[in-house]
Amino acid sequence: MTGIPRRRLLQGSAAAVTFACTGFAADAATPRITAPEVDSLSIQVVTDGNHDVFISGAQVPGVRVERVRGFRGALERRALRSEHGLSLWLTSARGAETKRLLLDYGWTGETVNNNLEMLELDPATLDALVLSHGHLDHFGGMEGFLEKHRGRMKDDLRLYLGGEDAFCQRVSPAGNGAFASYGRLDRGMLAAARVRPVLSEDPLVIEGHAFTTGAVPRVSQERVLPNSFVSYGMRDGAGCDTAKYADAHFSPAELAGQPVPDQHLHEQATCYHVKGRGLVVITSCGHGGILNTIRRARAVTGVEKVHALVGGFHLAPAPEDYLNRIMAELKTQDIDHLFPMHCSGPNFLEAAKREMPQTLVLCTTGSRFSFGA
Ligand SMILES: [Fe+2]
Repeated sequence: MTGIPRRRLLQGSAAAVTFACTGFAADAATPRITAPEVDSLSIQVVTDGNHDVFISGAQVPGVRVERVRGFRGALERRALRSEHGLSLWLTSARGAETKRLLLDYGWTGETVNNNLEMLELDPATLDALVLSHGHLDHFGGMEGFLEKHRGRMKDDLRLYLGGEDAFCQRVSPAGNGAFASYGRLDRGMLAAARVRPVLSEDPLVIEGHAFTTGAVPRVSQERVLPNSFVSYGMRDGAGCDTAKYADAHFSPAELAGQPVPDQHLHEQATCYHVKGRGLVVITSCGHGGILNTIRRARAVTGVEKVHALVGGFHLAPAPEDYLNRIMAELKTQDIDHLFPMHCSGPNFLEAAKREMPQTLVLCTTGSRFSFGA
């Protein structure tokens, strides 16, 4: 497998000084793609952590913002469900051609299935599936989703993943040095559902409309903030094979499966190049850092302009001084719109209201944001 050596992924902040703040970081080792242009893109939030029936549409220049009430009358007693986790329905168009992707699946199948129905989104129309990284709040609903809908979906259904790391066993500290399972994406479940995983540490174009960043080099001042632990290796045919990372620099403890703080080495962003607007970069959880992710999207495409940064920014656990430094650099990035979701954090929302009020768009379960024509 080609890709980014692990030491480059984790080389840390020292390299950041070699890149101008708004310049895109690319070197001879950076894989390049031609990002296809689309005329329009809409992002509908299938599920996120909250829904507010009172939130109104917003006047955002160049973006159509639509809200939904999110419930059906007294007899049905149904409502959009919100819980920890994220799932986004992506619809792009170029000329007469429309493509639809489902990116991440939230925490439970019950929620993603309920919300897809309430939002009148038909999985049979999907062209491909994408998973940002191997965390339960992003793949947890996939099994229930496939159980309910796979039979009506296209035969050759692909799931785009950033690499082997998506299959690792995640664990959480449970006290006294013990760990409890935090889930694992099941290859057998995918095979049984006739879903073909497509793993790539390098960027890939999806369905001629979208592209993934592939693995995101860690070259900014950012660091991976506390999240789960990971246990590398294969056990009983499940888990992640350390030989399938581009450059296997794992410690003996890691190779023995000892839990270590999770770096999400193969987390990927899903992106679009919207004609006349620029890049729309969807971080999903942003463990590798939002600045790193923006840099990567620019570097692999050569497209400098970022129209919108969307998704989980994983700054909820950020110490105040760290958040302030990230905000200061984010302000230099010439981004038109910020759509913080999921794990971005109330601290980030407060900082963005203060520092970048013109760019901030509030996000809730059910909202739809449309870019371009
Ligand atoms: Fe997440």
